Amino acid sequence: MEKIMADQAEQLRELMKARTEAKNEKKTRIIAISSGKGGVGKTNVSINLALAYAQLGKKVIVLDADLGLANVNVILGIIPKYNLYHLIRKQKSLKDIILDTQYGIQIVAGASGFSKIANLSDEERDTFIEELSDLSSADIIIIDTSAGVSNNVLDFIAASDDAIIITTPEPTAITDAYGIIKIIATEIENMNLGLKLIVNRVKSVTEGKKVAERVINIAGQFLNLKVDYLGYIYDDPTVSASVIRQKPFLVLDPNAKASICIKHIVGRLEKVEFKEGGGVSRFLKKLMGRR
Ligand SMILES: Nc1ncnc2c1ncn2[C@@H]1O[C@H](COP(=O)(O)OP(=O)(O)O)[C@@H](O)[C@H]1O
Ligand SMILES: [Mg+2]
Repeated sequence: MEKIMADQAEQLRELMKARTEAKNEKKTRIIAISSGKGGVGKTNVSINLALAYAQLGKKVIVLDADLGLANVNVILGIIPKYNLYHLIRKQKSLKDIILDTQYGIQIVAGASGFSKIANLSDEERDTFIEELSDLSSADIIIIDTSAGVSNNVLDFIAASDDAIIITTPEPTAITDAYGIIKIIATEIENMNLGLKLIVNRVKSVTEGKKVAERVINIAGQFLNLKVDYLGYIYDDPTVSASVIRQKPFLVLDPNAKASICIKHIVGRLEKVEFKEGGGVSRFLKKLMGRR
């Protein structure tokens, strides 16, 4: 399994590289969003992270790779005509199923209730990987994966530059976050993969920090693995309100606590330092200044 995984990741990277060189374009950053436990906020983070990137002028595609409970389109209030199902069944090509949205990001809708093939065949996965490389004109591809570990989730993570693991302060979510980190560490041979952690639904900065320290310390101690703390997102009623209204919270209220947190996280992903009350860089000013 390890070997296959490494081969496929390698194959995808080669494809991406070849295309990038051919078109003389800059590299696409692939970010996988995962979690051990379901319902911790992966889809909301994926979409709003994509929006924050788009506000910086980046071309972003969100790929809904949650084949069991696909709902990127639901949160955006979009009813797609075609989705990953048609791609995997070879009825459509990837460019046919990429959707423009009113928010300046593009999405590839997932195939909900598709759990039967939640583990794709090798051939199906090959087709997908080949076509995914067509997306490489994007600056950022954000992959919203399903919770837990199937071969698909691991393949997507293996093909990514960053794996962002989402947890909440709930003990079960923390344990499961550690679980998926452990599986990533043992199954994936992508040494360049950046493992990152977001603590969602916190009541305070301290709570986020404590949860992150726990996960990071265990990963360091038992797996000898470095996990970066990307930041926290407040438990914020704006998020559930935004889901009900099928409008991303960054759009519904750019100044909501959760929205500000997402902007900080993008800043950190882009390695831009944010100094509280102090010399905020131009990048962050641009980011924070969006209405
Ligand atoms: N920061 C938050 N504050 C309040 N509620 C949240 C927050 N993040 C997620 N939620 C709630 O959790 C639900 C599940 O989020 P979702 O992004 O669909 O999770 P996942 O994709 O991991 O299953 C949302 O519909 C929302 O009601
Ligand atoms: Mg989801």
